[in-house]
Amino acid sequence: MHNQVTIINHPLIQHKLTLMRKAETSTAKFRSLLKEISLLLAYEVTRDFPLKDEFIKTPLGPMNAPVLAPEKKLVIVSIQRAGQGILDGMLELMPTARVGHIGLYRDPKTLVPIEYYFKVPQDVDKRDVLIVDPMLATGNTAVAAVERLKSTNPLSIKFICILAAPEGLEHFTAFHPDVPIYTVAVDEYLDEHGYIIPGLGDAGDRLFGTK
Ligand code: URA
Repeated sequence: MHNQVTIINHPLIQHKLTLMRKAETSTAKFRSLLKEISLLLAYEVTRDFPLKDEFIKTPLGPMNAPVLAPEKKLVIVSIQRAGQGILDGMLELMPTARVGHIGLYRDPKTLVPIEYYFKVPQDVDKRDVLIVDPMLATGNTAVAAVERLKSTNPLSIKFICILAAPEGLEHFTAFHPDVPIYTVAVDEYLDEHGYIIPGLGDAGDRLFGTK
């Protein structure tokens, strides 16, 4: 596997992904599992965040204690619509993060992404970006989203998903070798409709109960 791809192999996350995959898992359960996985993912993808010491007083005395360096400013950019599920979890752990939205849908025939919405904070060029979308399938949407984000000149970009297809990883890494990818699993292949097999189905439909 390319070294820009990190598979988050934590037992809790793997277990929760298996529950999400099951066809019989309800919309409500799917939603809460995605949120829980996202909290755990946020923990992993922020490992390299810088700390600085702050002078504080505990009830028993003074100390220098680590806090997140205030100059580290984040934007979580959700690819609509399924990215919303990851965004909700991440915001719970990082409530001060700013949020961006990219609306890109896949043309069902060509699978080519078409942009219908783009809104990020004005100072994105002074921020680190986490782009979130549960499924890295063909990679077309992810490649287009990162390209669009790069045009706003952020300090850094990480791409975070739950499931990836080998084809999507290959496509993404060819276009954006500088963008690290975090995923929970890499599945077998893409079917002719661009679905990840065995996957978990349509993440948006399962998250919002639209099927
Ligand atoms: N998007 C999904 O929601 N599921 C897939 O399997 C592929 C793309």
